[in-house]
Amino acid sequence: RTVYVNGDYVPEAEAKISVFDRGFLMADGVYEVTSVLDGKLVDFDGHAKRLERSLTELDMASPVTIDELLEIHRELVRLNDLTEGGIYLQITRGAPVDRDFAFPDPAEVPSSLVLFTQSKNLANAPAATTGISVISIDDLRWARRDIKTVQLLYPSMGKMMAKKAGADDAWMVEDGVVTEGTSNNAYIVKGGKIITRQLSNDILHGITRAAVLRLAKEAQMEVEERGFTIAEAQEADEAFITSATTFVQPVVKIDGETVGEGKPGRIALRLREIYIDESR
Ligand code: PDD
Repeated sequence: RTVYVNGDYVPEAEAKISVFDRGFLMADGVYEVTSVLDGKLVDFDGHAKRLERSLTELDMASPVTIDELLEIHRELVRLNDLTEGGIYLQITRGAPVDRDFAFPDPAEVPSSLVLFTQSKNLANAPAATTGISVISIDDLRWARRDIKTVQLLYPSMGKMMAKKAGADDAWMVEDGVVTEGTSNNAYIVKGGKIITRQLSNDILHGITRAAVLRLAKEAQMEVEERGFTIAEAQEADEAFITSATTFVQPVVKIDGETVGEGKPGRIALRLREIYIDESR
């Protein structure tokens, strides 16, 4: 693979980041994952806007403009012949001369920028036809989940807890209500109505979520933005998740209980189809 590191396109084995980089030492960084379908970026503008917001919230500067970022994305797609998969982008607060909790002066320490491609079967992912199973776990993340930081230890632990329990993923629960999945937004469908948690600092404002809710409304489907419990989800007609790496993916089991008929729901599959059609 050819990757991008601080201004250069290099073979991945030659890419270098300092051991003093604050992304590495402090998880002081933000990221985005933009999917690629038929060699084209899906909703780059949405990801760029959220990136700018994450940077602003953390008082961090981007080393390049959004137009330059778009160019880098396109160049990586070209250099790696990527037709389907995603582009991972990470900006960290750079590498000061030593480890220090205080932020370095941005005039002296530029932020680091890294991007790489990941080839993946998105449109024909097997999980879309089988559905996935999730377990519920406590949401032990920090309180600013609206910022897409690289602090992914707890979500990684959640994935491992799911694996250990024989499930595919975990939905996190706070004050009795589902926040979101380890790396996706969570939904249920009841009586034809699509229910997903309202936006706040408690969840990541998914770019796929925004598109799917817009498409649902355009297709005259009813949408309600509110939290739901695991018990309500287990009794729902359908459940699903959304993210740039899964698109719309049906959930068929929650904490061992079958959702609906235990197979991908009609509305989830329809939304998946509409979303993929629009993204192509
Ligand atoms: N994750 N919620 C969380 C906690 C996430 O990490 C993600 C994305 C989402 C969905 O956001 P979007 O629709 O913009 O991808 C929701 C990415 C894909 C990841 O960490 O790989």
